[in-house]
Amino acid sequence: MQKLVVLTGAGMSAESGIRTFRDNGGLWEEHDVTEVATPEAWARNPKLVNRFYNERRKQLLECEPNAGHTGLAELEKHFDVDIITQNVDDLHERAGSSKILHLHGELKKVRSSVDPSYVVELDGWELKLGDKCPKGSQLRPHIVWFGEAVPAMEDAIPIVEQADILVVVGTSLNVYPAAGLVYYAQEGIPIYVIDPARPEVKIKGVEYIQKGAGEGVEKLKEILIK
Ligand code: APR
Repeated sequence: MQKLVVLTGAGMSAESGIRTFRDNGGLWEEHDVTEVATPEAWARNPKLVNRFYNERRKQLLECEPNAGHTGLAELEKHFDVDIITQNVDDLHERAGSSKILHLHGELKKVRSSVDPSYVVELDGWELKLGDKCPKGSQLRPHIVWFGEAVPAMEDAIPIVEQADILVVVGTSLNVYPAAGLVYYAQEGIPIYVIDPARPEVKIKGVEYIQKGAGEGVEKLKEILIK
């Protein structure tokens, strides 16, 4: 089976009702990113940061995977599919995709503030200040904040390097190192970008499917499944 690698971003979940980050009305616009998504913010105002992530977890409970998520899961009948996502929601999982790598963490998980290897699934949507890890430290969102390392890149790069087909869905390719993944693709493989806009990919022959995730993945299936 050919290896199909899909790099997804916030636009993948837009049709599920989760706002993107840089479109107008995006998430960060109500919050200065330095106020809520950096280790300094967590140290300075854990109450605000914790409330921001609790609100996002609560919102996620009302969201369902969209046709784009389910379409990608269905492609597993025809391809060996790897999803590499910048998203912290669990919509790819709930749509049935079986190989998912989260580059920027997972909203439904929390981890020790002193031992990053201690990661647990949060029961419900609310993390409370005072919820401690076994070593006695405050549990924190299992999210990669701006300025923090992206350990999952180590696994993501070889996956992209082995792709026979690369698909990019719903990311403005603004945030590195995630955005740089596309340049690890082997020379000459087919690359499709599904996005109403045209995020720049400086590789010859990229095919843009300028549609939302739901319609775009449908179109991709028509192209890939002869
Ligand atoms: N379907 C597909 N793509 C869409 C849709 C849709 N319905 N609606 C918007 N988009 C596209 C936008 O055109 C844009 O290119 O989704 C992209 C969203 O870009 P961003 O908001 O920048 O989100 P993303 O690229 O995932 O951000 C990367 O930045 O804020 C950090 O850690 C956060 O993982 C995030 C990272």
